[in-house]
Amino acid sequence: MSKVSIQNVGKVFERAASPVPALDNVNLSIEDNEFITLVGASGCGKSTLLRILAGLEYRTSGEVLCDGKRINSPGADRAMVFQHYSLYPWLNVIDNIKFSRQLQVNRENLTSSDVEAASGRADALLNLIGLGKVRNAYPNQLSGGMQQRVAIARALMGRPSVLLMDEPFGALDSQTREVMHDLILHIHRVEKTTIVFVTHDVEEAVYLGQRVVLMQPRPGRIHSIFPVPLPAQRTQDMKYSAPFRELRAEILARIRESTGITTDLDLLQKLNVQSVSA
Ligand SMILES: Nc1ncnc2c1ncn2[C@@H]1O[C@H](COP(=O)(O)OP(=O)(O)OP(=O)(O)O)[C@@H](O)[C@H]1O
Ligand SMILES: [Mg+2]
Repeated sequence: MSKVSIQNVGKVFERAASPVPALDNVNLSIEDNEFITLVGASGCGKSTLLRILAGLEYRTSGEVLCDGKRINSPGADRAMVFQHYSLYPWLNVIDNIKFSRQLQVNRENLTSSDVEAASGRADALLNLIGLGKVRNAYPNQLSGGMQQRVAIARALMGRPSVLLMDEPFGALDSQTREVMHDLILHIHRVEKTTIVFVTHDVEEAVYLGQRVVLMQPRPGRIHSIFPVPLPAQRTQDMKYSAPFRELRAEILARIRESTGITTDLDLLQKLNVQSVSA
């Protein structure tokens, strides 16, 4: 059985002026412990699809199953990491990581040994993300990359079977992004989670993904799926290899084709037209 099964999913946003068809007949099966990356032009429905998987958005048609169960609302089996750091500023690092667990403890009235086990897990995650030294620091004392590492640890705290990430490294500089790439691959190996990772960056998508799903806009749908022909254990120098460069070029060409923009000059002209008519 697939970990996640997306079946004929459609989404129309009902707007006063005119309905927006954001997704149309999306089908995708994601295997247990797979690392899937989703790319495509802006507006092709990547975030909408991820939010439907998270249970934060209703689909208009179709079904989404996680471990065979229909998804209709958020659940502890699926955790989300967003682009913008979303830590609680009044909590230090370790309490941010434990936060969702704390809520569960209050709700379910668990025993003290459960709480102890949760503390052990929070410390293990803190070490996994390499931030043991800033255990008691507050978010405003951390760099963006460090804050995002804490957000990832917090998402992992409840042992979700699927980690959903929407451009999580989009706001980071390129060197920090490379460090985060190797960290998330390490986490994927150690925690054995299934990851669905949305990005604008084709290089990031190829480096991280076992399969890259390319979406196309108007309405958002799957254009094609590319298995990544690289060894499971990725290293930065693979970015210079022929298979990596060829796949990156192929996906970029398909994105340009699917948006009708074939050269950077087309893009410039399109932007000029938009700014003149705005
Ligand atoms: N709440 C909403 N109400 C109306 N339309 C929406 C809403 N959210 C998204 N849309 C529309 O649905 C389409 C898909 O949006 P979505 O945010 O999923 O795209 P995306 O691929 O994540 O884009 P980006 O790469 O810019 O983040 C777009 O046309 C967008 O304008
Ligand atoms: Mg988006």
